[in-house]
Amino acid sequence: VISGIHHLGVATDDLAATVSRYRRLLGARVDHEAVVVDQGVRAVSLAMPEGPAVELLAPTGPDTPVGRFLERRGPGMHHVGYLTDDLLGELARLEGEGAELVDATPRSGLFGLQVAFLHPGTLHGVLTELVQPERGSVA
Ligand code: CO
Repeated sequence: VISGIHHLGVATDDLAATVSRYRRLLGARVDHEAVVVDQGVRAVSLAMPEGPAVELLAPTGPDTPVGRFLERRGPGMHHVGYLTDDLLGELARLEGEGAELVDATPRSGLFGLQVAFLHPGTLHGVLTELVQPERGSVA
């Protein structure tokens, strides 16, 4: 079952400035920070009193997935992350429905999450991530 929106992913080329602005203008609180070198991303998860988190993503260099996204599209909305308690089962179901999977099998994502992405073409131009918190995860 996909039970709700877990977070919204936003791409930025200046992580510190973006964090500062989200805190000042929206009252967001920094929840987690991470650098994932092999995925080429620095990330900050922001929490609001209610609702999904905002995951700010900055590239570690131009030749990374987020770096290429910024080159093509500029800063802004990057993906929507949906929460599931059965990532493997949902991937199998979605594949059966004809969804185009970026990740055929779950992989380790940010903040101790198991994740898998669906191609934007599957959901009308929106890169979509399925998220399952690992047991004992902070997220
Ligand atoms: Co995400």
